[in-house]
Amino acid sequence: MRADPKSPAVAGEKLGVWYADRLVGHIERKSASVLDIDFSYDPAWMAANDSFPVSIRMPLAVQHHEPATVYPWFLNLLPEGRTLEMVGAILHVHEADVFAILQEMGGDVAGALEIRKLNEPASARKPRHRRLTEAELAEAIKRLPERPLLVGEDGIHMSVAGAQEKLPVVRYSDGGIGLALDGAPSTHILKPRNSKFRAAVENEAFCLRLAAAVKLPAAEVSMHSAAGVDYLLVKRYDRIIENGAVRRLHQEDFCQATGFPPSLKYEWNAQIQRQGPGLKACLDALNLTSRAAANKIRFMDYMLFSVLCGNVDAHAKNYSLLIQSGAAVTMAPLYDVMNGDIYENVTRNLAMRIAGKQRSGHIYARHWDRFAEDNGLSKTQVRRRVAELTTAVLKAVPGVVEELEKSNMPSPAYKEIAGYVTTYCKSVLSNLKSDPIEEDEADDEPNATPAP
Ligand SMILES: Nc1ncnc2c1ncn2[C@@H]1O[C@H](COP(=O)(O)OP(=O)(O)OP(=O)(O)O)[C@@H](O)[C@H]1O
Ligand SMILES: [Mg+2]
Repeated sequence: MRADPKSPAVAGEKLGVWYADRLVGHIERKSASVLDIDFSYDPAWMAANDSFPVSIRMPLAVQHHEPATVYPWFLNLLPEGRTLEMVGAILHVHEADVFAILQEMGGDVAGALEIRKLNEPASARKPRHRRLTEAELAEAIKRLPERPLLVGEDGIHMSVAGAQEKLPVVRYSDGGIGLALDGAPSTHILKPRNSKFRAAVENEAFCLRLAAAVKLPAAEVSMHSAAGVDYLLVKRYDRIIENGAVRRLHQEDFCQATGFPPSLKYEWNAQIQRQGPGLKACLDALNLTSRAAANKIRFMDYMLFSVLCGNVDAHAKNYSLLIQSGAAVTMAPLYDVMNGDIYENVTRNLAMRIAGKQRSGHIYARHWDRFAEDNGLSKTQVRRRVAELTTAVLKAVPGVVEELEKSNMPSPAYKEIAGYVTTYCKSVLSNLKSDPIEEDEADDEPNATPAP
């Protein structure tokens, strides 16, 4: 990517940011540089008593927000890496031109906002759903490698972050699947079986079912097959059904909440040798929320659950906040949790260090204490929570294996992952009781492949 790509568009061009038929504000190009976009709240939105901020970093009390905050926030709504390059090529715009890409793909994004023309209320776009036959769905999934998110096809205006192939869809009450077109809200995210990572569908289903089994809020998942093409269906927690209609809830991920672009989603981004948000940055961001203490404990539960699952890929875009009117902010449910141990070429290093430790086996009682101290949490509470949640996970594992082995997608992967999770749980519990003096820091694998 060039350092400061220019857009052929003109300064002063504006794009509306909408919540259903209400204007939240607008994005404006300040110059020919694609990075130079700012955001202003609409005065009526600022004055309404049921409004919510776009981000905890863009409070409603401040009308104008600068490009340094605005550009990375909106960039985080788009797919990443090679997928974004392909999107840019298909749309004939520069991959860094967030304004131009959102103009096309802003109709259904993570959270409650829709991005479309300033003079175009939702009703003018005639949002609609199109039901797919099983064969059509299988075909659509097969097109994704060349046409991410089906971008450029008739009525497709949606975007979702991440590096892996996926497709936002609607699920009808009879189980049928359709496409959300022209700004209609999707209700689920479909993640096809991944050819690079064996049993990825079963892996994510296992981890998220395990989270639910220990009463952690977790995205609801189910496994399916359309004409022989397997996929995981993840229910969107940012969509609810109200009076028979789908309503969007607002969310932002922790890259957005901490002010980093997606390219810096890891605490250490080895390819570009740059720092991104770690645990401290995420927990500090939670200090900006009204229920900071409860949110921080929940974040810690999620982080610990990732350690127990061997989910090394728990980077800042894999945790999110739900933002409700009146700026009530809570942790979104867990999503995108997968065990990395069953893949040989995946790093064993955690995406975020815990008290300086990158390998879960190297975390002892004093590290949990340091984690508590560094983040304004009670040491006793942290130790108690580590013991309680780990014990609960250890107990829940056999039941989840049994349930999934009896499901529509039986697989040897469940037992295999369960073995790793059990080992992690036992090691975390025994390390909580011991505190060897020697530190083992030799755990860096700077060139390892990131997890799925
Ligand atoms: N259940 C859900 N409800 C609402 N939004 C979700 C849900 N699951 C995922 N998302 C959003 O979609 C984005 C991409 O999803 P996900 O993390 O599962 O994809 P991925 O491509 O596997 O990610 P990664 O790049 O971490 O490998 C998330 O960062 C989040 O913003
Ligand atoms: Mg993810």
